[in-house]
Amino acid sequence: MLTADDKKMIQQTWDKASGHAEAVGEEALWRLFITYPQTKTYFPHFDLTRGSEQVRSHGKKVANALTNAVKNLDNLSQALSELSDLHAYNLRVDPVNFKLLSQCFQVVLAVNLGNDYTPEVHAAFDKFLSAVAAVLAEKYR
Ligand code: HEM
Repeated sequence: MLTADDKKMIQQTWDKASGHAEAVGEEALWRLFITYPQTKTYFPHFDLTRGSEQVRSHGKKVANALTNAVKNLDNLSQALSELSDLHAYNLRVDPVNFKLLSQCFQVVLAVNLGNDYTPEVHAAFDKFLSAVAAVLAEKYR
């Protein structure tokens, strides 16, 4: 469960990052594809070179979905319901991949926010991204 302090830290941190939503999303995907190359198999129709139009546009969509999630911390299941359907029924993304992408977002935030990414913020974001992943995976059951 996210505490009131967690929620505040998540909102403050994402406010700083989401001004650069496309860059943050693109960097997370770039890290995902290089660090965990097996994830590229879900994107055979994409040009996966760094900075490609498709990766930038997809990065922006993913980051905007996180912005929506941050605005709906008390209501994640409902806010992400359509995305949950999409990933479970249409895309059939193996849920292990959500953890991999979460980790890449953590690294992007840490690199970009430096000392502002304190252990407390890291812990709050870890809980948040786990909650998002749990919602995106809940329709598999
Ligand atoms: C599509 C969000 C994790 C694979 C999308 C879209 C969004 C999104 C917003 C676009 C939906 C639309 O166009 O209506 C997220 C979020 C994630 C996540 C918030 C977790 C934090 C993943 C992971 C994978 C994945 C881990 C696979 C490794 C895909 C694919 C598409 C997609 C293949 C369709 C791309 C296309 O053809 O345009 N996702 N996603 N997603 N996602 Fe995810």
